[in-house]
Amino acid sequence: MTRPSLPTQVHPSPPIAGDASQFRRRGEDLAQNVRRAARRFATGVTIAAVRHGEGTHALTANSFVTLSLEPALIGIAVHREGRMRHYIEQAGCFGVSILSGGQQHYAQHYARRDRTGQSQQPAMTVLDTDPAVPLVPGCVAYFVCGLQHIYAVGDHDLMVGAVVECGTSLKDHAPLVFLDGEFRASPSLAAAAAGRAQEHDRPEGSTQ
Ligand SMILES: Cc1cc2nc3c(=O)[nH]c(=O)nc-3n(C[C@H](O)[C@H](O)[C@H](O)COP(=O)(O)O)c2cc1C
Repeated sequence: MTRPSLPTQVHPSPPIAGDASQFRRRGEDLAQNVRRAARRFATGVTIAAVRHGEGTHALTANSFVTLSLEPALIGIAVHREGRMRHYIEQAGCFGVSILSGGQQHYAQHYARRDRTGQSQQPAMTVLDTDPAVPLVPGCVAYFVCGLQHIYAVGDHDLMVGAVVECGTSLKDHAPLVFLDGEFRASPSLAAAAAGRAQEHDRPEGSTQ
């Protein structure tokens, strides 16, 4: 596997942007409240993956964010004590696949702590990209990234990837959605995706 030529920059301390302590509220379990409030934020669901040893290591992540277009940078926040954070740093590159509504089993499997070594792993594929990273076949969209920065962010690290290649599915699948702690394959999103697929199928010059 070719490592991307950009050196990774590690930023152990987050920059101080301001003093948020003036907003702190006393006497509450803030982490619980943050978790409860954040569950109301609907996200897509991704699988971040690296090649590790002879195989693949992947995890379910909904912290995916597009950070910049020029240069093209995306990020995922991974738990500092988790395996993925170290495997991404070792590999120097990673893939991100945005799951479709029919791929909930990928999200469930790759969120399990005891998933490694299991024979029933949902299949990943490695395209002929440089760097070569594992991706979910049939995903809605994918990003092939070289690791460019690691920012310490509380108990997570923000892994910033320079996008070297990305693509979208030829079929217009609706994305999987995570809301209120549940996976949802929204019927309205599926209808919208079907509509877009019909638009793509229209003969050129047609207005219908
Ligand atoms: C919907 C969903 C989203 C998740 N998003 C993240 C995430 O963004 N970052 C993270 O570190 N873990 C996330 N997790 C938890 C990890 O998938 C899980 O803890 C995994 O076992 C960690 O693997 P690792 O030990 O290889 O790091 C998410 C789990 C679910 C179900």
